[in-house]
Amino acid sequence: MLLSMPSLQLDPLWRLSEAWAADTRPDPLNLVIGVYRDEQGVCPVQRAVSIAEARLAERAPSKEYTSPAGNLEFNAGICDLILGDPALIGRATSIQAVGGTGALRLISDLLAVTGPGRTVHLGTPAYVNHPAVLRAAGLRVSEYPLEQDGRLDAAAALDVARTAAPGDVLLLQGCCHNPTGLGMPLETWIELAHIMAERGVVPFIDQAYFGLGDGVDEDLEGMRAMLEIVPEAAIAVSASKAWGLYSERTGCAIVLSSNPARGEYVRGVLEVVARAAYSQAPSHGARVVAEILGDETLRADWRVELEEMRQRLTLLRAELVAELLATTTVPALPQLGQQRGMFLRLPLDADQMERLRIDHAIYGVPSGRINLAGLTSDRIPRVAAAIGEVVASSPSRTLL
Ligand SMILES: Cc1ncc(COP(=O)(O)O)c(C=O)c1O
Repeated sequence: MLLSMPSLQLDPLWRLSEAWAADTRPDPLNLVIGVYRDEQGVCPVQRAVSIAEARLAERAPSKEYTSPAGNLEFNAGICDLILGDPALIGRATSIQAVGGTGALRLISDLLAVTGPGRTVHLGTPAYVNHPAVLRAAGLRVSEYPLEQDGRLDAAAALDVARTAAPGDVLLLQGCCHNPTGLGMPLETWIELAHIMAERGVVPFIDQAYFGLGDGVDEDLEGMRAMLEIVPEAAIAVSASKAWGLYSERTGCAIVLSSNPARGEYVRGVLEVVARAAYSQAPSHGARVVAEILGDETLRADWRVELEEMRQRLTLLRAELVAELLATTTVPALPQLGQQRGMFLRLPLDADQMERLRIDHAIYGVPSGRINLAGLTSDRIPRVAAAIGEVVASSPSRTLL
């Protein structure tokens, strides 16, 4: 029996995608969900993924349970790739997770178990699911504005690190921030790390879009520099974007500890939390990634294809910004070109985004975010003209 009916609502992204699917106007554009698409509008299965899947099918791996930590080869491959440095890898405990979201949740549970009263500080605008995941684990969330006039407000993050209580957590996106596309300069990562190490504030880093900003190593550089400085940190890794394994729900939770005994304790907690939620993560995506990372040729081809994806996103951003600059009066245009990753955050408010959807059949997110990969070069003039029309007819109330 229901005892009460508190209001719990799904974020608007999936509802908008459903509305797009039901839109019967000519060529409605879905720029809502963060999924990579090619020029044909298809979310492709990567070449290396297809080859790895064929090999796995030939080998007919058993469907037996894996292990409490999931696929150990996958976990090791992800730690190697993400951390890069043997000294960091030596401090890491990892567990396979149900996508990047699952990794966020496992780490949130670990943080709640090991520090029941602690607060997670979250820069806004935030990834739409971050507050929900953190609160579901019972953590307190404190938001602060991370963006000012379309630029990263590094001073705000540094202030939070300086004033947070010891044991508090700073949730940071590793690169290609969703939804702002803003990157944090290397100097800020390093300055933050020193403050956090000194004050006992824990970094919780979400790595969902590495490889899609400036390149794999470039995108991981800031986080790696921070990890060299802080004694403890947690990283949620998603394989959804970099390998295009969205529906396979593949991710990894990594925790860096200050000594092996703490690492062992962390492993135990993560395994208990996972076991209580779903016992073990699904195996297929992790097997695919492990096969790719463990084979030099496949790994190299995966890097080539990821770079092709990155270049397509970079080109689309440049083309759209150039078109907006040439044909519209949209404000803050030069800043848009500085953004990185899958998204472009337009300086449009929720009402203007609604006009884009109702008047022009262009579906983005109320925060102004659009998925660049949902565009094609030939549609850019149409999209730019629509954005220009919306801005000209209803001036923005947001100051991006
Ligand atoms: C910032 C960020 N973190 C985590 C995720 C979750 O990724 P996954 O689909 O692997 O759960 C997303 C997905 O869009 C994201 O944008």
